[in-house]
Amino acid sequence: MTELERKQDRAPVPADWTYAPAPEARDIVTIEERYGHYVGGEWLEPTETYTTLSPATEEPLAEVGQATPAEVGAAVAAARDAYENGWSSLPGSERAKYLFRIARVLQERSREFAVLESLNGGKPIKESRDVDVPLAAAHFFYYAGWADKLDYAFPGRLPRPLGVAGQVIPWNFPLLMAAWKLAPALATGNTVVLKPAETTPLTALLLAEVIREADLPPGVVNILTGAGETGANVVTHEAVDKVAFTGSTEVGKVIQRAVAGTGKHVTLELGGKAANIVFEDAALDQAVEGIVNGIYFNQGHVCCAGSRLFVQESVFEPLLERLKDRLGTLRVGDPLDKNTDIGAINSKQQLRKIEELVESGVEEGAEIYQPACDLPDRGYWFRPTLFTGVGQSHRIAREEIFGPVLSVLTFRTPEEALEKANNTPYGLSAGVWTEKGSRILWMTSRLRAGVIWANTYNRFDPSSPFGGYKESGFGREGGLHGLEPYLEFEEDGRAG
Ligand code: NAI
Ligand code: MG
Repeated sequence: MTELERKQDRAPVPADWTYAPAPEARDIVTIEERYGHYVGGEWLEPTETYTTLSPATEEPLAEVGQATPAEVGAAVAAARDAYENGWSSLPGSERAKYLFRIARVLQERSREFAVLESLNGGKPIKESRDVDVPLAAAHFFYYAGWADKLDYAFPGRLPRPLGVAGQVIPWNFPLLMAAWKLAPALATGNTVVLKPAETTPLTALLLAEVIREADLPPGVVNILTGAGETGANVVTHEAVDKVAFTGSTEVGKVIQRAVAGTGKHVTLELGGKAANIVFEDAALDQAVEGIVNGIYFNQGHVCCAGSRLFVQESVFEPLLERLKDRLGTLRVGDPLDKNTDIGAINSKQQLRKIEELVESGVEEGAEIYQPACDLPDRGYWFRPTLFTGVGQSHRIAREEIFGPVLSVLTFRTPEEALEKANNTPYGLSAGVWTEKGSRILWMTSRLRAGVIWANTYNRFDPSSPFGGYKESGFGREGGLHGLEPYLEFEEDGRAG
């Protein structure tokens, strides 16, 4: 029958092939019993707290603060003070020194950050170690390089910082999103109040320690933990000049309404439902790796995840067979095990959302496939899942699942692929798999998505701008483009 089965006949894979566990030691991390808020360079004793836990074991990790309006006010005041009294008028070359220092300390303490990120968020250690932490350091290095070159970045436009930035970030890449937010804001001379997501506060609090170690002037960066209400109080505070948010489209819309007419500058990086499009001339084995990386990376908790797979009909069967085969090799389990491919779902709430959408897929008539695999008894887990027979109108083809769930659809012509791919309220990312450069160009110039990968997926670089169209938000992070949302310009500038 198929090539794969024939291959297996010749060299059968032993049925009981197992890996030996290879857990990363967690003793490199010291977790305090209780954390305060980082305000004005000091730890502020919180008035209210909640417990943050490990989603892989449900074990409590620490008590963290739930910032009240008064605490938000104190953080904004500290940021305003630091802005007025030094930071905004510091030469760029001086600001750069601090950013370089933060980047270097992050690198030195990278194993500590990786272990803590996996403990608190559930992501596999090989991802936090090889992706999240190195990329976070790279962002600080990259924007450190721009800090003294803003006049060259925007010639004749006299760039000026905006003031205090209120930044709210999600739980899928906690440290990396903090770096995406902090690095450009500081490089351009702004000060910051940052709020990490409620389920993943610990690496942001460790970052506060790094910021202290780097001797950043007090108040330049303030970090408050807490839930959505704290976030709302940060972004709507009257002394906040710039709002930067990454999270759900739903909350993005709430924020946009809340700050409308206030004169605050806003950038929103929201959800996605990306099309990953495989043409019949693509290298199928490579495409399978790209599809797996596209949707099962970080348990599918990725705004740019390739959650809608479009396969050209002529290669549907061989591709699907290889994909199912590959799914069977993914290891689900302990995030701290270096062999783990799929870790824990970030929270009980997110697990419920995934389960509900997967149920809707079954009810609406799509065909579900999940490889057999054991799941741990405690914690939040979901098997890698794919659906075939998916219609364009199914909820699993329209809504962001934000879990390890792939919806597979088919097409016959490039025009059909394009029309189906663009038929979504989102527009964050896309992938194209084909051997033909001309087809890549034809597709990429017509796909309505901010980031498009060709013959690869989920690749990130600090020098490359990232952001969306339509309900995926607006504004760009990364690259030269990522400086602009933190600046205003005196357009009539310096010519004479
Ligand atoms: P969320 O959008 O509620 O949370 C993201 C951040 O916003 C958190 O720090 C949260 O505390 C804060 N927040 C919540 N309400 C707020 C408000 N009214 N004002 C200011 N800040 C507020 O996302 P949630 O509920 O954790 O996840 C729900 C869905 O959103 C996910 O299933 C996924 O589909 C999507 N999502 C997308 C992300 C992305 O990177 N595009 C990240 C996180 C979630
Ligand atoms: Mg929410």
